[in-house]
Amino acid sequence: MSASNEQIFETLVYPYLNHAVRMLEAGYASKADIDNAMRFGCGYPKGPLTVLDELGPATVRDALAARHAATGDHLHQPAGLLEEVAAQGGSFEALGAGSVQAAPELRHDIRTVGVVGTGTMASGIAQVFAQSGYDVVFVGRSEDKLAGVTSYITKNLDRAIARGKSDEATKAEVLARLTGATTREALADVDIVVEAIAEDLAIKTELFVDLDRIVKQGAILATTTSSLPITELAKATSRPADVIGMHFFNPAPVMKLVEVVTTESTSPEVDETVKALCARTGKVAVSCGDRAGFIVNCLLFPYLNDAVLLAEAGEELGTIDAAIKETAGFPMGPFELLDVVGNDVSLAIQQELYREFDEPGFAPAATLVAKVDAGELGRKTKKGFHDYS
Ligand code: CAA
Repeated sequence: MSASNEQIFETLVYPYLNHAVRMLEAGYASKADIDNAMRFGCGYPKGPLTVLDELGPATVRDALAARHAATGDHLHQPAGLLEEVAAQGGSFEALGAGSVQAAPELRHDIRTVGVVGTGTMASGIAQVFAQSGYDVVFVGRSEDKLAGVTSYITKNLDRAIARGKSDEATKAEVLARLTGATTREALADVDIVVEAIAEDLAIKTELFVDLDRIVKQGAILATTTSSLPITELAKATSRPADVIGMHFFNPAPVMKLVEVVTTESTSPEVDETVKALCARTGKVAVSCGDRAGFIVNCLLFPYLNDAVLLAEAGEELGTIDAAIKETAGFPMGPFELLDVVGNDVSLAIQQELYREFDEPGFAPAATLVAKVDAGELGRKTKKGFHDYS
């Protein structure tokens, strides 16, 4: 099988656009937040609703309707709002007009940031805050793991120096703002904690119970979970109003998006402070409700899963990657991105979306499951969809 670039684009990108319309029509997120989320979370040149306007809502509606007639898959059925906008000859731009909001302000004094975890995300997040002038206390389980964080950040700073974007003095300043600790008690006086430990409800709940005991009153307790219920973590504490989600993207020092996730209990001051903090660290914040996948993963992973299905139907991985980069202008093809995120993480997210939305078309592709079973997790194991050995 050898589809043209245009066919691959329509097969993979149109359902993603349709899905973005469904998210908008369900009132889960605003037009601006949906577009910003995909631009700043995944590096796409434009958000899906802007792309829809450019392609023409009627063109996309017609192509989806034809595909739906062929597949019967609900995910290919044009969203009601897409039908409406196409029928009226309107645009999504017009629907998003007038939604500009005032810049958020810091309602809490934030000087010191605690980061819990020593993986890629935690390391990147520690770098983001230290680089923005905050003192960072990062907590890991061993001295070795703490050293891993420092070496990750040092490597990134060295790369920036090599590219002429930074200098040795800045590197020394950033590193001097970082303090590692192997005990959580070191977090007692921080103004906000951002945790990025294992994506497991029991493990995170135990941490939040501990943070509630250790961290001073009035501090903000943030989680980077991408799929666990933040409401449950908030309930584990005596201060649910101070608990919030801050979902960063990989690689955290580069991707500008943070999905700020509030629960029913999160206080508006905490929400506003976190958004202001994002702005101060050069990030773009979007508002999300406490639902699996938030904006980005909910739109991204079904598209990645569809790419795996397309490969299962006989299309070459390299052809799909190249076609998407060329036609959609995405910075990475789907298989390159799966290998960066990790097939284990991607499978877990896709399973979570499948559970949350009960959408048969979200069932994880067999090859994705097989890759995980074979331990071919992506770049981190030197083999995923592509080979890195
Ligand atoms: N850590 C720190 N900095 C990095 C980096 C890393 N791992 N990788 C690249 N960079 C920096 C580079 O130093 C460079 O910085 P300057 O512009 O200041 O010089 C910049 O990023 C661009 O890097 P390159 O020129 O080497 O590479 P590129 O142009 O190919 O960009 C990329 C790399 C930014 C990662 C780009 O490919 C991209 O945007 N990819 C999409 C990534 C994506 O979609 N992430 C979201 C995944 S989903 C997720 O994270 C959510 C979840 O819950 C799993």
